[in-house]
Amino acid sequence: MSNTGGRRLRLGMVGGGPGAFIGAVHRIASRIDDKYELVAASLSSNPEKTRAAAAELHIARPYSSFQEMADAESKRDDGIDVVAIVTPNSTHHAIAKAFLSAGIHVICDKPMTTTLADAEDLQREVERTGLLFALTHTYTGYPMVRQMREMCAAGELGKIRMIQVEYAQDWLTAPVDNKQAEWRTDPAISGPGGCLGDIATHAFQLACYTSGLKPTEIAAELSTFVPGRRVDDNVQAMLRFEGGAKASLWTSQVAVGNENYLRLRIYGEKAGISWEQESPNYLWFSPLGEPTRRLTRGGPGTGAAAAYATRVPSGHPEGYLEAFAQLYKDMAEKITARLEGRDPNP
Ligand SMILES: NC(=O)c1ccc[n+]([C@@H]2O[C@H](COP(=O)([O-])OP(=O)(O)OC[C@H]3O[C@@H](n4cnc5c(N)ncnc54)[C@H](O)[C@@H]3O)[C@@H](O)[C@H]2O)c1
Repeated sequence: MSNTGGRRLRLGMVGGGPGAFIGAVHRIASRIDDKYELVAASLSSNPEKTRAAAAELHIARPYSSFQEMADAESKRDDGIDVVAIVTPNSTHHAIAKAFLSAGIHVICDKPMTTTLADAEDLQREVERTGLLFALTHTYTGYPMVRQMREMCAAGELGKIRMIQVEYAQDWLTAPVDNKQAEWRTDPAISGPGGCLGDIATHAFQLACYTSGLKPTEIAAELSTFVPGRRVDDNVQAMLRFEGGAKASLWTSQVAVGNENYLRLRIYGEKAGISWEQESPNYLWFSPLGEPTRRLTRGGPGTGAAAAYATRVPSGHPEGYLEAFAQLYKDMAEKITARLEGRDPNP
């Protein structure tokens, strides 16, 4: 890999072929801040589909397989700096390992792997190679989530007592016949978790990320409500954290009337705070004994972390794509700093 010399980072992509969901989101997100160019891809496990889709997307170097891509890109002077992995869950470990072994930084979508052993194996590979590995937990990219994390860390809530996190969807309420539902309900591809791996991972990570707390114990009940389904579609969990805080987590893909209802509430000795993903530009802050305040993205009372993740002035809504772009921006800064031999900002 060469120094950036002010150029855009060279990005590769595995997955994200025709009809795929999150690959297109990653492509948009990588371009929002103009820090990447997508130059190589293995978009599908079918080489013909990859070639056709790469031509349509103006990707210069299509590959028949991720292994061929990792091998070839690592040998080029102008090879990719980083690869985005946007394939179904069961493939993440092998693909991430191939690129790390080839000396290439990784941006991988969640869940990281489908087994603990595979996750630990990747951790060892990251430590061995010294490369960067980013997991795209989208919701951490929202400015008001960064604000929430900053306020918790600054002690504005006091000692944290309770966390309530819920993530409810309804798209799997009945059997669904599409590509995304098909692999998500097949344990051989999704892994042993259904709703657990698909969205409880987001809720769990968000609770830990914002509060800064580490869980010590978890008790969970996984349910499967749709007859014949081979993975869970509803998760209820109780968590205990270091320091005595408790959390309750509910995630469901069979909760009728909910599209992507992710909601997080944190309560401390001095204040409570609440955020909803479907109204992401607002954060509700309730100091004990005072009226509840609505903090707005880019508005008064918000700090440096939210400002760093904000692109347009307050009152102009930002959302999902910008949150995703923030993760790409964060990773671009880390990779560029590494290539330029300096510490990353901020
Ligand atoms: N961060 C988020 O908010 C978020 C949202 C949706 C999905 N995801 C995650 O992203 C991943 C993909 O989900 P999706 O909904 O986009 O799936 P999808 O089925 O829509 O797309 C998967 C793509 O990967 C391709 N693919 C499969 N095996 C491949 C291989 N060996 N080589 C190259 N391409 C291959 C498929 O052809 C397809 O184009 C999953 O791990 C999922 O959990 C994350």
